[in-house]
Amino acid sequence: ARLLVLHGPNLNLLGTREPAVYGHTTLADINASLQATAEAAGHQLESLQSNAEHTLVDRIQAARSDGTAFILINPAAFTHTSVAIRDALAAVAIPFIEIHLSNPHAREPFRAHSYFSDKAVGVICGFGADSYRYALDAALARL
Ligand code: DQA
Repeated sequence: ARLLVLHGPNLNLLGTREPAVYGHTTLADINASLQATAEAAGHQLESLQSNAEHTLVDRIQAARSDGTAFILINPAAFTHTSVAIRDALAAVAIPFIEIHLSNPHAREPFRAHSYFSDKAVGVICGFGADSYRYALDAALARL
């Protein structure tokens, strides 16, 4: 099956961005490791990072017709703001897992609300780069 991994704004800076919060692993490392795991399980995985809400909306819309079976998404700051990305996921009706490196519930109060959690198959947060690995395991178990 085809899996799509989406990363929201500022996640291109992983590795150097607030390492005490987000760790030292780079986005390239995370993507390479996810791809290797998915391929070893006989699946295909594509990753996209964007700082632009419309790029993420467009990619989710395209997933409706490109055979994507599952989406893993860390919406980053859009978690707390984006009705548009939420609506795109609802429109394509592809199951998705919401991922965060940090635990948003242990941070500023504005991070406690997500526009995604009630629509997600599940939410994995607080395990640093391992959050992505656990989410992929969960997705692979459902394919
Ligand atoms: C994040 C948490 C968000 O609150 C924040 O805006 C991010 C990253 C995380 O992975 O921990 O950019 O999604």
